[in-house]
Amino acid sequence: MFEGTSQCIDCHLADYNGTTDPDHEAAQMSTKPAECHTTSNWDATFDHQTTAFPLTGQHVQTACQQCHIGGVFEGTPSQCIDCHLADYNGTTDPGSRGGTDVDSLS
Ligand code: HEC
Ligand code: HEC
Ligand code: HEC
Repeated sequence: MFEGTSQCIDCHLADYNGTTDPDHEAAQMSTKPAECHTTSNWDATFDHQTTAFPLTGQHVQTACQQCHIGGVFEGTPSQCIDCHLADYNGTTDPGSRGGTDVDSLS
């Protein structure tokens, strides 16, 4: 790659569009591969398990874009209730009179 002449994406748009796990286009992920990859292979340099919010249980199967809406990764809330308030409000049995600390129940 020659600085100033082309962006990675100019040559690698097909790679980007062809991704399935995760589907970068659907997740509106950055089109700057260097944010997560090097030029030696497509292995991601990013590992979610090293963040303050490791993915466990059902979250492993959850599509990135369900938590990172619009491809925004920075500042994603990490308290259960931030994302699951609708679940909390939608409960009927028992009604939502418990605490909002989901961790205490899981
Ligand atoms: C001028 C076109 C061009 C540009 C710009 C470009 N690449 Fe490539 N890249 C290629 C070609 C051609 C290959 C080899 C064929 C392939 O694997 O798609 C390649 C291969 C790769 C591979 C695969 C290596 C492997 O063996 O699996 C990675 C990763 C990669 N490029 C990353 C990048 C990154 C990151 C940038 C920007 C910093 C970039 N490329 C810029 C043309 C380009
Ligand atoms: C269940 C929700 C959830 C899912 C699914 C999820 N993430 Fe995250 N992600 C988070 C939370 C919460 C954080 C914030 C962690 C922190 O505070 O450091 C985060 C942080 C990140 C960050 C770091 C952002 C920063 O601050 O720089 C990246 C990058 C990221 N996730 C990428 C992904 C990718 C790629 C996927 C899909 C393979 C994914 N995430 C799936 C919840 C999720
Ligand atoms: C950044 C947003 C986010 C955060 C933070 C988050 N979740 Fe989730 N969670 C999701 C999404 C999106 C799904 C998948 C869609 C759904 O089932 O609601 C999910 C799914 C789940 C499921 C599976 C639901 C089912 O019906 O299969 C459980 C259980 C769950 N989360 C528990 C938790 C707990 C406990 C915490 C706190 C430790 C937490 N979540 C934090 C976004 C989040």
